[in-house]
Amino acid sequence: MTVVGTRGATLTEGRADFPTGFVWGAATASYQIEGAVKEDGREPSIWDTFSRTPGKVVGGDTGDVACDHYFRHADDIRLMTELNLAAYRFSIAWPRVQPYGKGPVNARGLDFYSRLVDRLLEAGITPYATLYHWDLPQALEDAGGWPERDTAHRFEEYAAAVHARLGDRVRNWATLNEPWVAAFLGYGNGVHAPGRTDAAAALRAAHHLLLGHGMAARALRESGAEEISLVLNLSPVITPAQVSDPGAEISEADAEAVTRIDTMLVGQFLDPALRGEYSQGFLDIVGRNGGAGHILDGDLATINQPIDLVGVNYYNPCVVEAGPGEAADAAWPGSEDIRFCSADGVPATAMGWPIVPNGLSRLLVRLSDDYPEVGLLITENGAAFDDVVEDGHVHDTRRTEYLDGHLRAVHAAIADGADVRGYLVWSLLDNFEWAEGYRRRFGIVHVDFATQRRLLKDSAFWYRDVITRNGL
Ligand code: FCB
Repeated sequence: MTVVGTRGATLTEGRADFPTGFVWGAATASYQIEGAVKEDGREPSIWDTFSRTPGKVVGGDTGDVACDHYFRHADDIRLMTELNLAAYRFSIAWPRVQPYGKGPVNARGLDFYSRLVDRLLEAGITPYATLYHWDLPQALEDAGGWPERDTAHRFEEYAAAVHARLGDRVRNWATLNEPWVAAFLGYGNGVHAPGRTDAAAALRAAHHLLLGHGMAARALRESGAEEISLVLNLSPVITPAQVSDPGAEISEADAEAVTRIDTMLVGQFLDPALRGEYSQGFLDIVGRNGGAGHILDGDLATINQPIDLVGVNYYNPCVVEAGPGEAADAAWPGSEDIRFCSADGVPATAMGWPIVPNGLSRLLVRLSDDYPEVGLLITENGAAFDDVVEDGHVHDTRRTEYLDGHLRAVHAAIADGADVRGYLVWSLLDNFEWAEGYRRRFGIVHVDFATQRRLLKDSAFWYRDVITRNGL
């Protein structure tokens, strides 16, 4: 029997077929893979500084060499071809393009991305460029970083410079990757670069990131960019009981906790970007954490540029409950009296992140219901496991299961009406996993960091077949 869902997703006796034209690909980010940190005029980013600061990154790892992708990108594109990828999402390192974050453009830095784009296009792979995946030029942090309004203006200038060079060939542009993480882990709990711990600064950073997004989106559109997106880390916010039973009843106190965290994670970004407003609940939190003096008249209109897609990065749900007396978590201003919970009864990845595929379907259906004006692209989804190489193979069954479960969840959401256009696995390669260094492997391709040898894991072969069949 074939069940035809909406938007062309069909299910035939356990076979899940994706809509025609569904985009299949993989994602990476500049600092996590490129290495070559001193090449061709690049100057330090906040991640160079942070990773060199003792105690910040596991094992003292840095992105100095990473996957050496700067020099090996042609080989890496050959791997993408072998995997049949239709799309490749990468990010551009601001400190290559403007080494000090402003002023003249460093042509040699842009040359690298120009070569990368040419080679992708030659291979028939569509480039998806992200302008900011956390590697702020250190000079801009020295001038105050994202908590300062000027950084948004600098980002607009940088975005325009990149588009001027690549816009003749790149159609798909994302402004920011996960501004929540950049603001609240970078300036809130300090687990990420630049490692500051100041709730008010984190809230200002988030607003200026959004402002930079709006300014850059406007500049990109004016210069002819075809598809523009904002990439967010999004999760359904649920209670412990809802991990295994999505329909579980929740108390009024738990519902209030859920709403407050959802406001910080989802509403804080989508309300201004798509509707030109901040909710009263969000403004109350800002009011209690340094005030809203940095939100100027006209900002919300600037942030509210028409965009085509929201990029969804999903790994796990966010599990909370009412916790009277709990202090606010440093990454979550306004989270007083809320407890962040582990998800009992479900397996977890090597990051300790609970594996809840139906969280992704819930999230996608909710986003399309609440924000029908934009399409959705899964810009990241994947898992770290402790992979081992045995006789030239990596039998990463758990990763394949993770991806299979999440792709079925995407399929179910499409059949329920969610407007999902494609799926980009995180990640093509094992890489520098931020504060966790190289010990956490997310790739479908194994990287031996001593030799830079690449090896397709079993999940890569599996994914190639999924792409070839356009389904499971
Ligand atoms: C996301 C990041 C990405 C990667 C994955 C595991 O938050 O965008 O760079 O580290 O997590």
